[in-house]
Amino acid sequence: MDLADYLYRHALKPILFRIDPERVHNAFVSIGEIMGSIAPARTVFSFFYNYRGPDISKTVDGIHYRTPVLLSAGFDANGQLTRILPSLGFGGEEIGSITTLPCKGNKKPRLTRLIRNQSIVVYKGLRNRGVDALIKKLSRTKRAEDFVLGISIARTNTRASCVDVDAGIEDYAVSFKKLNEADIGDYYTINISCPNAWGGETFTDPVLLEKLLTRLTQIPCRKPVYLKMPIDLPWEAFAKLLDVAHRFGIHGLVIGNLNKNYADLRHPEDAPREFRGGLSGAPCFEPSNELIRKTRERYGERFTIIGVGGIFSPDDAMAKFAAGADLVMIISGLIFEGPGLVKRVCERYARESGKIKT
Ligand SMILES: Cc1cc2nc3c(=O)[nH]c(=O)nc-3n(C[C@H](O)[C@H](O)[C@H](O)COP(=O)(O)O)c2cc1C
Repeated sequence: MDLADYLYRHALKPILFRIDPERVHNAFVSIGEIMGSIAPARTVFSFFYNYRGPDISKTVDGIHYRTPVLLSAGFDANGQLTRILPSLGFGGEEIGSITTLPCKGNKKPRLTRLIRNQSIVVYKGLRNRGVDALIKKLSRTKRAEDFVLGISIARTNTRASCVDVDAGIEDYAVSFKKLNEADIGDYYTINISCPNAWGGETFTDPVLLEKLLTRLTQIPCRKPVYLKMPIDLPWEAFAKLLDVAHRFGIHGLVIGNLNKNYADLRHPEDAPREFRGGLSGAPCFEPSNELIRKTRERYGERFTIIGVGGIFSPDDAMAKFAAGADLVMIISGLIFEGPGLVKRVCERYARESGKIKT
């Protein structure tokens, strides 16, 4: 463990974990945005946290990633961290999920740490400033070199756009069209699996997914399009969604989203009783690995796979690659282990990627 890791885990984290998680998150995003705008600050962060080993770059769907480790959707919903994240060893990030209209999100508490479970109960309900604000923000921000920007699109979390299927489809379509027309983002992920929005996960029904993709594929797009998959469907139901994705030429899959299955918690008694939300972190690890493995077994190289869920160590990341992931994403690991985790994953990947057999 190097000094930056040690300080995060033993000095900063014990303080941060006493403060409301959403306040800490907001503070980190604001500080990260400011630090990213100051060149000497970026240099200092880069000194401590950036990966500087042998070349581990990868080209996936024609996009060049300096490192195969990305920040997962939900941390930087409004695209404020695009300047600082390259200094922390990330090869890219998935901004969002964004929606056509700004969303305030669900009622608080929107985030609850389950420390013994290495998990966060996420009940944010797609809190974000909306697609127009994102386009404005990214158009005005100088792009960092060699850093990939994926954009995750969800439907606006209001009763109107969630209860009516056609309104929901149109909502995705508006964001997708605006982003394409503004030429913002290197790839797009259609988030069909947010577990805590109004009306549930409508488009994890294959018939409705087909309807959604019929509409979205009418919109001109020259970039790879991925689907953010649920991880708590039985395999056969999951595979039906993959069949639809295949028919519509979807390039890849992010496997996957939060886990709604509270039985996957090591200490389910720690979960709050008064509300529900999706579980991040450790409860996502095995379900996501298994779905990645099965997807590779059945579909071979047909889909790009981005593996996400429960990466807290280089071992965890290597398990995702071994299961068949082309790239990995992290969010809870960053919160529990600190930003040094990214560099440690990259270093291990540099040593072992040649040995991975999928
Ligand atoms: C605070 C928080 C907010 C999230 N918001 C989103 C979101 O807006 N869109 C999305 O696709 N996934 C969202 N997720 C899910 C993550 O992107 C990821 O799929 C999941 O947390 C599993 O990864 P992890 O175990 O590394 O946290 C969120 C997760 C967290 C912890």
